[in-house]
Amino acid sequence: MAVALKRSTFLGLAGAALFGGRAAAQSVAGNRMNQRKIPSSGEMLPVVGCGTWRTFDVGGKSADRAPLAEVLKVMFDSGGSVIDSSPMYGAAEGVVGDLLAAAGTRDKAFIATKVWTSGRDNGIAQMKKSMALLKTDRLDLMQIHNLVDWRVHLPTLRAWKTEGRIRYLGVTHYTQSAHEELEAVLRAEKWDFVQINYALDDRAVERRLLPAAAERGTAVIVNQPFGGGGLLRKLSGRKLPAWAAEIGCTSWAQILLKFVLANAALLKRMVAEVGA
Ligand SMILES: NC(=O)c1ccc[n+]([C@@H]2O[C@H](COP(=O)([O-])OP(=O)(O)OC[C@H]3O[C@@H](n4cnc5c(N)ncnc54)[C@H](OP(=O)(O)O)[C@@H]3O)[C@@H](O)[C@H]2O)c1
Repeated sequence: MAVALKRSTFLGLAGAALFGGRAAAQSVAGNRMNQRKIPSSGEMLPVVGCGTWRTFDVGGKSADRAPLAEVLKVMFDSGGSVIDSSPMYGAAEGVVGDLLAAAGTRDKAFIATKVWTSGRDNGIAQMKKSMALLKTDRLDLMQIHNLVDWRVHLPTLRAWKTEGRIRYLGVTHYTQSAHEELEAVLRAEKWDFVQINYALDDRAVERRLLPAAAERGTAVIVNQPFGGGGLLRKLSGRKLPAWAAEIGCTSWAQILLKFVLANAALLKRMVAEVGA
């Protein structure tokens, strides 16, 4: 595995990351979460959030849902708020909506979901359904999933933002083959957020996308910080590096999150912002 494990790689802080449900309970409990500024508004957002792909696609059984309710509780108790979903994720949006309603925690959540269909009317119908499933009349972030029909959806998202139905708009992708197009889209239009794949063994975004996002004042959400789980599985048999404790890490999951939060381009921007 081509993974360089230098202590210096992990120092510094910037960015925002999403992780699968299991890691939430293990990696953030007990620590108050750092926050970063959303460039387009100045609003502060906790740096680690909860993804819902596969993990929240469960049925109605309480045995399936109780651990997910606990994940959200741990996240909120740790100062986190971001939940990322999509109509592509099976039952996930509905499960998130039910769990937030049952716990009375909608106001603590920054709910991000996506539009993942072609055509203006289909997009509008899908976004309305997402709002119903998530039991909210105002979504925090609506993202165009994997660039699907983005030119058609963007005017709707802009109108919905003006009307207050969504607070921020963004665009996502999950694979290196789309990075060139994503960069062009990032430079052509104004986006509040871009969501991209970034992990210790998947660093292509460092070349052009992260610098482009910083130039454009676009907040970055990182997906697949554990390589979709595969990177964590590969590392699971390896001993933690001796310096892990020095950076406050007791697991590989924590080290991998620390890595995506330490990108140099974003760190430079953050330093410039605070005038240091
Ligand atoms: N195009 C897009 O917009 C896009 C694409 C991908 C992801 N996303 C978003 O980003 C989120 C995160 O991405 P992801 O879930 O694909 O990948 P990921 O966060 O890199 O990996 C999550 C997986 O890692 C494993 N895992 C988590 N914590 C662990 C731990 N402590 N120990 C061992 N294994 C652990 C689990 O897999 P196992 O159960 O298999 O071990 C889990 O499903 C998604 O939920 C989704 O919200 C968006």
